[in-house]
Amino acid sequence: MKKVVLAFSGGHGTKAALHLLRRKYGPNVITYTANLGQKGSTEGLCERAIALGASSAHIADLRERFVEGYIFPALRAGAVCESGYALAHALARPMIVAEMVKIAREEGADLLAHGCAAKSNDQVRFETSAAALAPEMRVLNPLRDANLLHDDEVAAYCQKHDLTARKEDPGRFSITENLYGSSVQWNHAPDSFDEVPDEVFRRTRPIAGAPDAPGELTISFKHGLPCSLDGENLPSLELIHRVSTVAGEHGVGRLVTLEDRLIGIKMVEVYEQPAATILHMARQALERLVLSPDMLQFKSVLSRKFADLTYQGFWFSELREALDAFFLKATEFVTGDVRVRMHKGHARVTGARSRYSLYSQAMAEPTTEGDAFSHSAVRGFMETISQPLRAAPREGWKPREADE
Ligand code: ARG
Repeated sequence: MKKVVLAFSGGHGTKAALHLLRRKYGPNVITYTANLGQKGSTEGLCERAIALGASSAHIADLRERFVEGYIFPALRAGAVCESGYALAHALARPMIVAEMVKIAREEGADLLAHGCAAKSNDQVRFETSAAALAPEMRVLNPLRDANLLHDDEVAAYCQKHDLTARKEDPGRFSITENLYGSSVQWNHAPDSFDEVPDEVFRRTRPIAGAPDAPGELTISFKHGLPCSLDGENLPSLELIHRVSTVAGEHGVGRLVTLEDRLIGIKMVEVYEQPAATILHMARQALERLVLSPDMLQFKSVLSRKFADLTYQGFWFSELREALDAFFLKATEFVTGDVRVRMHKGHARVTGARSRYSLYSQAMAEPTTEGDAFSHSAVRGFMETISQPLRAAPREGWKPREADE
């Protein structure tokens, strides 16, 4: 008899998936639950899974490894989607799959399963990550096989089979969260002109509720990664938590955007990512101080590629790992302090310093006193830089008024 390991979050989809798998595979369904710092805690989920028929239920606190192994490499790489999405959920998926593969090997299972929604990116990431890590295993999508393609069908299935305690009102929104960010899904697709109501946001205050006095944080980085806040060294998990709390209090980190899903459709997406917003902003300011213009420009192209690969489910790929090696080298000197001010939904960098700074006050000095810049060298520079243009003047470049 085949054995299967199912990713189990305790949501409707995964409950229905568990029930369906039980029917087919009998007592050979093992569940796996990851604690990634989601607020609706993971407590009692193993008992739930067993009660619903799982033969064994695993749970693991992955928070620290999530930060060290996934969030930080993405942060160091400056990996943010074009929309501004900092990939909180795209980063979680490969990690969960990696853990499930380990358990499947320990337990002698050769099937993996998930209860991801039919239009989700997560279903893709699940399959691609599994393909990379365990090509010999097959991935099951029991909801799709049973034709449960919509939320209402899944909810009705759960109800019919008594998988939910009471008749739950799904509300207008469903929220998925982890320690790095939340994602809000509409239970009915909105019009693209509809405004997102304030009440969907849980970890960022509305502007009216944010303090009148601005907040400030000085974030210190070492080799492209944050290590201390206001001079206090902090474990990475604690650091993210604190940045998230302070930024959220000031209403920073909300994002409403149109996303191009991997399955080819546009979706309105709502994210809350206070820590990611601040940390990427600060790191970028520090990079502007210590990196050469060439490096800044080239790196940004690779940052985008890193983000796309992560979004598309290619975390476990040769290219993503090669980019990781590049960013490790490229952030060697990204060490220093950045001051960020937050106020009523906005954040901005108000100062950065580093012992590797390429900024020279003496070079920038606009008055006679202390100016170290070589003005005499500029005349020759002007000659040479404009030489190609002088050599090949084009008639058509004359201003329009001069045309006749
Ligand atoms: N659209 C986002 C992404 O592709 C958020 C996914 C949220 N995950 C979820 N299971 N609701 O990463």
